Amino acid sequence: MKMKRTAVISTKGGVGKTTVAVNLGALCADAGLRTLLIDLDPAQPSASSYYPLVHEAEGGIYDLIALNITDPARVISTTSVPNLSLILSNDPNNQLINLLLQAPDGRLRLAQLLQAFEGQFDLVIIDTQGARSVLLEMVLLASDLAVSPLPPNMLSAREFSRGLLQTLDGLQTYKLLGLNIPLVKVVINSLDQTNDARAIHESIRCAFQDSDQIEVLRSTIPVSVKFREASTHGIPIHHREYRKPSNKQGESALSVFRELAIELFPEWLDRFEALTEEAVKQLVKAGFRP
Ligand SMILES: Nc1ncnc2c1ncn2[C@@H]1O[C@H](COP(=O)(O)OP(=O)(O)OP(=O)(O)O)[C@@H](O)[C@H]1O
Ligand SMILES: [Mg+2]
Repeated sequence: MKMKRTAVISTKGGVGKTTVAVNLGALCADAGLRTLLIDLDPAQPSASSYYPLVHEAEGGIYDLIALNITDPARVISTTSVPNLSLILSNDPNNQLINLLLQAPDGRLRLAQLLQAFEGQFDLVIIDTQGARSVLLEMVLLASDLAVSPLPPNMLSAREFSRGLLQTLDGLQTYKLLGLNIPLVKVVINSLDQTNDARAIHESIRCAFQDSDQIEVLRSTIPVSVKFREASTHGIPIHHREYRKPSNKQGESALSVFRELAIELFPEWLDRFEALTEEAVKQLVKAGFRP
C-alpha cells in the first residue's frame, strides 16, 4: 500500500492541530502502522518536543527541505512511542519560508522529497503552523488528505471556511500539473457539555455544504483536562485514558481517537479495531518496564 500523507492544518492558531497530530500519530503507531510525524511549524515547534526522543537525529526539517537531505540517519528521530518517528523542526529563524518563496520548485519540494520515504513508512502526519503561508501550501500539495480541527462555533467556521477556500483556490493551477489538492476533513474539537453537539455539528456541516473540497467528520473531540496531563507527561492521551471514565458521560480518549482514525483511514480498520482497551493496557504496562 502507498504511504498515506496526512496534513493537519488550519488557517487559525491554537485550534488543536498539534494535539491532533501527536495523538493521532501515536494511536496509529500503536495500531502497528509505521508512522512518521513531521513538524512543519518553525515558529512554535511543539510537536518536536511532545514525546521524549529515544534517538535524536542530528538534522531535521531544515536539512530535508532546504538541503534536500533524505538520509534517514540524518533527518529522522525516534520517539518513545514504538513505531512513531519524527522529523523535528530545526528552523528557529524561519529561513525556510524565504527559501521556498525564492526557489522555483518551492511549493513542490515536500511532495518530491517524501517519495524517498515510500516503503519505510505507512503513514506520514504533518503538523503545520496556524497561518496561510507558502509552508502550508507546500504541505497541502504533498498530502493525500488534510484534517483540520475547528472550535465548536459558527464564527470560527465562517472565518475558517473563507481562509481555507482562498488557500485552496490559490492552488488550483497546480492541478494542471497533475498534482492532487487534498480533501479537507474538519474535526470539531473541544466540544464541552454546554454545547449542543448535534446542533453545532449540523450548522457547521451546513456552512461547508457548498464546498466539494471540505467535509465535516462525524467524529468529534470533547474538551478534556487529560490533554494537558498527557502532554505534561509526554505520553499520548489514549495511554492516559483507555477506559471509559466511570464518573462522567462520554467516551474514553482511546475510543475518541480510534473513531477519528477509522474515519480518516478506513483502509486500516482491522488494525484500529484490534487496538482494544486491553491491548492498550498491555502497551502501557510494557512501556513502564525498565
Ligand atoms: N479537546 C481539547 N480539550 C482540552 N484542551 C485542548 C483540546 N484540544 C486542544 N487543547 C489544548 O489547547 C491548546 C492549543 O492546542 P494545540 O497546541 O494543539 O493547538 P495548535 O492549533 O497546534 O496551536 P498553534 O497554532 O499554536 O500551533 C493546548 O494547550 C492543548 O492542550
Ligand atoms: Mg501547533
